[in-house]
Amino acid sequence: MSSRSNDLVDRLLEASVIGSFTKIGPTVRRRLAHWQKFERATGLHVIITGATSGLGLKAAELLVGLGAEVHLVGRNEAKLRGVVDGLKPLAKAHRGSATGHVCDLSLLNDTVKLVSELQRAVPIIDVLIHNAGALATAFTETSEGLEQTLAVHVLSPELLTRGLTEQLVAGKGQVITMTSGGLYSERFDLATLQMTQATYKGTVAYARAKRAQTLLTAKWNEDFGDRGITAQLVHPGWADTPGVDESLPIFSTLMGPLLRSPEQGVDTLVWLATTDPATRRPGQLWLDRAPRSLHKLRRTKLTETQDHAAAIALEAWCADKIAQALSQPGSTPSA
Ligand SMILES: NC(=O)c1ccc[n+]([C@@H]2O[C@H](COP(=O)([O-])OP(=O)(O)OC[C@H]3O[C@@H](n4cnc5c(N)ncnc54)[C@H](OP(=O)(O)O)[C@@H]3O)[C@@H](O)[C@H]2O)c1
Repeated sequence: MSSRSNDLVDRLLEASVIGSFTKIGPTVRRRLAHWQKFERATGLHVIITGATSGLGLKAAELLVGLGAEVHLVGRNEAKLRGVVDGLKPLAKAHRGSATGHVCDLSLLNDTVKLVSELQRAVPIIDVLIHNAGALATAFTETSEGLEQTLAVHVLSPELLTRGLTEQLVAGKGQVITMTSGGLYSERFDLATLQMTQATYKGTVAYARAKRAQTLLTAKWNEDFGDRGITAQLVHPGWADTPGVDESLPIFSTLMGPLLRSPEQGVDTLVWLATTDPATRRPGQLWLDRAPRSLHKLRRTKLTETQDHAAAIALEAWCADKIAQALSQPGSTPSA
């Protein structure tokens, strides 16, 4: 097929949503665009959060198999140890490495500790992947007074990125955040970002947090772009993972045969991580190795000026929330 016909098929898939997000997307697009095999990643220093399950686990496995030095962040120490031990033979065979770091990203004191640990352990960071996340159906307020979804998807990524800036600058590093199709339903509004018990709806909190990540990504590019850091978003499509089974059981059952494998879900993430970020415009949302729109509905769009003002306001708001959480009585990091 000519490249114009390929573009047309790709655009039709994107417009159909189901064609794009399910396994049809990568199955067709890999042929249309002649996807290359991943490049070796020897010596690439990668940090990935949420690496004990689903997409994060698969990405860690692929990257270790390509020879990368992968730092896996997980909240459950025993589960993390099991995953890291399981990756050791692969690491040995491919001259990569797997190292575990325990952190519950819903607790900012834990994230502060993680930042210190990573500053010491990884002086040069090539790729920082914010993957940890969950669609929580029930409202949970953390011991630091934060709604959990917001803490995990927005505040901890902000704290980690800013805390590891010097290490990212040293590596001319990429920051890649795992987004979701959920963001297409929400317009950014700082006033409603932190939901209360009375207003909480899991799908809405999740979508708002994912929308907020797009503004953080823009702000990281603005603040650190001239120091060589680039930030991108990646959408995995709809992939078969424990997270989807647990939080969306009906969706998982109905879509089951059409869901992507975890490997298809992380293809673009691994491709971004192992190719030169200088070849891409920063701040884009990637799906199936191509940049896609940040909006599908007119009602979720802000003007460029509003977007910029919102990103500045969000950053200031995050700084306040982080300071408040860390100043809670008895909230000193435990080690
Ligand atoms: N699968 C999809 O179709 C899909 C679609 C769109 C976006 N995503 C995004 O992809 C990412 C990975 O999701 P997944 O489908 O692979 O789900 P998953 O199988 O549930 O994996 C989520 C990972 O995040 C970790 N995590 C959750 N809360 C955490 C916390 N407070 N502190 C530290 N780690 C935490 C989990 O730890 P445990 O192992 O301890 O549970 C797990 O390792 C998420 O950001 C999700 O929003 C997935």
